[in-house]
Amino acid sequence: MTPETSARFQTTSESKVADPMQETTTTPATDATATPATDTILEVEDVNVHYGDFTAVRGVSMAIPSNRITAFIGPSGCGKSTLLRTFNRMNDLIPTARVDGSIRYHGVDIYGPKVDPVEVRRRIGIVFQKPNPFPKSIYDNVAYGPRLMGRTKGLDDLVEESLRGAALWDEVKDNLDESGLALSGGQQQRLCIARTIATRPDVILMDEPCSALDPIATLRIEDLMREMRDDYTIVIVTHNMQQASRVSDHTAFLSVDVDDQTGMRTGELIEFDDTETIFTAASDERTEAYITGRFG
Ligand SMILES: Nc1ncnc2c1ncn2[C@@H]1O[C@H](COP(=O)(O)OP(=O)(O)OP(=O)(O)O)[C@@H](O)[C@H]1O
Ligand SMILES: [Mg+2]
Repeated sequence: MTPETSARFQTTSESKVADPMQETTTTPATDATATPATDTILEVEDVNVHYGDFTAVRGVSMAIPSNRITAFIGPSGCGKSTLLRTFNRMNDLIPTARVDGSIRYHGVDIYGPKVDPVEVRRRIGIVFQKPNPFPKSIYDNVAYGPRLMGRTKGLDDLVEESLRGAALWDEVKDNLDESGLALSGGQQQRLCIARTIATRPDVILMDEPCSALDPIATLRIEDLMREMRDDYTIVIVTHNMQQASRVSDHTAFLSVDVDDQTGMRTGELIEFDDTETIFTAASDERTEAYITGRFG
């Protein structure tokens, strides 16, 4: 990290919430293993993820910087989605999944005993590969989360603000009562982003959000991500190398370690650095081989 980026990190994190989940057992953020604590919104420390007896991801430690876009790249099956889902406890919904290690959000262990996973998912939202609007109107899709949280007032403004935030307002403002399912794929994905930002998250996880979209819709979402960076931290999984290099500030390369004896395939974090460094001067030859298309 250059001194300049380091300084920028420090200025962006000051406005963030100090004790986001009313958790009592807060660990000071200064325990971070890598970059300075003020830069970091998610501190991942020695995380392993198992599905039953199978270890899908092993020994991941990394510090996700606040108000930046971090990309996860790596071959299919290396555990990108698995790791991403640990960041907002989505793996809780998979009965065989088990996570150990720690993930601290603003210094709070999101797997701590007093933490409500629903609150975690409100603050750390997720957008999936396939746009998945509810079979409801555009308005009701966006108002869904806030209503669930008991909000009844100011919904019109919140819906408009969220749709504007997702760069969809101008296209749908006269058809808010129409079904979300009647939109194009790219519009549906922006609707899903609007639905996510309506609950005012801090972090947005995106698992291959553009893989079902055409190139124009893809560029639209990439522009949107860049615009959103001032207000959100974004972590995106992508198979598209150009996308990772175009849109992200930092890139993590994961790969699969195959055990000689058992043949077990376990995902590991190989390298995490500024995107420019990963794409021009990777320090691990596996990263370079993947990026240049010689592997994976
Ligand atoms: N629900 C599940 N139950 C059991 N094993 C799973 C489950 N989800 C993923 N896995 C396994 O965990 C490993 C990592 O899968 P994951 O989907 O995280 O990889 P990925 O890097 O996202 O791959 P892709 O690029 O194909 O999306 C794979 O071996 C996969 O088979
Ligand atoms: Mg995946």
